[in-house]
Amino acid sequence: MKKKVVSVYRFEDDVLNRLEEEVDVTLFNKEDINENPEFTAALQEAHGIIGYGLEINDSLLDKAPNAEIFSNVSVGYNNLNIDALTKRNIMATNTPGVLDETVADTMFGLLIATARRMPELDHYVKSHQWTGDLTSDFYGTDVHHKTIGIIGLGRIGEAIANRAHHGFHMNVLYHNRSRNEEAEKKFNATYKELDDLLKESDFVVLMTPLTASTEGVLGAREFSLMKESAIFINGSRGKTIVEKDLIQALQQKEIKAAGLDVFEQEPVQKDNPLLDMPNVVTLPHIGSATYATEHAMSELACENLLAGLRGEKPSCLINEAVWKD
Ligand code: DGY
Repeated sequence: MKKKVVSVYRFEDDVLNRLEEEVDVTLFNKEDINENPEFTAALQEAHGIIGYGLEINDSLLDKAPNAEIFSNVSVGYNNLNIDALTKRNIMATNTPGVLDETVADTMFGLLIATARRMPELDHYVKSHQWTGDLTSDFYGTDVHHKTIGIIGLGRIGEAIANRAHHGFHMNVLYHNRSRNEEAEKKFNATYKELDDLLKESDFVVLMTPLTASTEGVLGAREFSLMKESAIFINGSRGKTIVEKDLIQALQQKEIKAAGLDVFEQEPVQKDNPLLDMPNVVTLPHIGSATYATEHAMSELACENLLAGLRGEKPSCLINEAVWKD
């Protein structure tokens, strides 16, 4: 008999067909799972669960007594309670590697759009306000040959450093849990303590995963260390910063501008003051959202899930502690 899988993710047909060759899949929309008896019944039977942004905690796992694996369709896994999964011997997997270049493109796009005020200027043209020569009111900030400070030089951080060094001739600074000597050679990057990176960078790009030790890593003190001309880019998770402190730093002109792909609450709340600031460029958490990359992520998540259900070690197993040869 085929094993049963609950999916809280909209797969494209080819990936869904691939899954259905080996397992029975029941599909749910994230918006429709709360207090849904059909979801609870499906969880009760499920051997595997797959999803994007689904909170996996004790209360959900209590309803899934047969679960063997949870496959996360993203690289960040702050939505998973790894201890809760591990103590139940449930494998957890994610999708690293396949999205690095795409997310780096998004972050660089966001950085340039913020520095050169592209959304503001787009609105200016489309609202028919462009009727004469531009004044300096519309000028932006150069990106090329400036100093970029990347906090979190993992795979995505490296892909950003690559663009910065080779494409834009920028001076690359980085802060990381450990030194990355290969990146230092490839991108002429310099390791800095966090405070020094904040003081010296023209662009501060936050790419660290959200963990207990990175939650709120940038707050009032850290924003006050940045240059008044600094542009802050967040491509990690909303909770790696203290959002109210960023708002205050922007209101008090402690920093110049921000480009944000992530927010403390997603979807972002209508009354969030960041939405009314012309010097803030916002995206709806779309770092990896291209057709090709979303497809590659869903294929990898599907392969992780199927491997785990076959009794093989998934290639992207997070909680190695559950794996016994
Ligand atoms: C990831 O994969 O972590 C991206 O941020 C999408 O959530």
